[in-house]
Amino acid sequence: MSTPDITNGNTVYNQVCSACHQPTGLGLPGVFPPLDASDWVTGPAGVPIAIILKGLQGPIEVNGVNYNSMMPAANYLTDQQIADVTTYIRQAWSNNAEPVTAETVAQVKEMTSEQLTPWTAEQLQALVAENSSNAPAAQVASAGATHTSTSVIDAGSFNLSKISEPSDSHWYSFGWVIGGLIFTIAVIAFLKKLTH
Ligand code: HEC
Repeated sequence: MSTPDITNGNTVYNQVCSACHQPTGLGLPGVFPPLDASDWVTGPAGVPIAIILKGLQGPIEVNGVNYNSMMPAANYLTDQQIADVTTYIRQAWSNNAEPVTAETVAQVKEMTSEQLTPWTAEQLQALVAENSSNAPAAQVASAGATHTSTSVIDAGSFNLSKISEPSDSHWYSFGWVIGGLIFTIAVIAFLKKLTH
């Protein structure tokens, strides 16, 4: 387990985030939402990580104020940088939430690989709700809040596919299984030929 480096997190924040969210974490009223005292930041750690990885668009309420804008993804950052900056925003100003590790970032990245566009707030809320109603995966919503890796991996049910592609994904995996079987049979047939 790598430990997050909050000093480096502060550096990444200054380089990547503070132009919009401001060094104070208070944002710009009506334009850029605050990160200070925001539940989106201090709640389940999977949420700020997912936002940094994919960006965010559309209506969102932060501390009782409505925004409807767009944040670009910062997916060019390394897992370690994302862990550092997420830890920084979770602990800066008046915030006091658990740190997150690069391993957690890697897991959230894998679990959200099917999400190709910036999130909407609605999607993120659905994701968290789904995870908290779903026992084994409950902690994934909190990917990082509980930073045991197993709880995060268990999150087969962090199931993004349910949100972005309602039913297709099962058929995809079905296709892969059948394809795999056919391939295996072909290989066995070929090996038999070789040995006879
Ligand atoms: C170009 C401006 C811009 C940059 C750069 C930017 N953001 Fe954002 N961010 C926004 C906007 C705008 C929203 C709200 C998007 C919407 O309206 O859907 C937002 C929303 C958020 C939210 C959820 C709402 C909240 O206020 O808690 C988080 C968390 C967040 N940003 C974190 C970050 C972090 C961390 C970085 C740096 C890695 C960053 N942002 C960089 C503009 C930016």
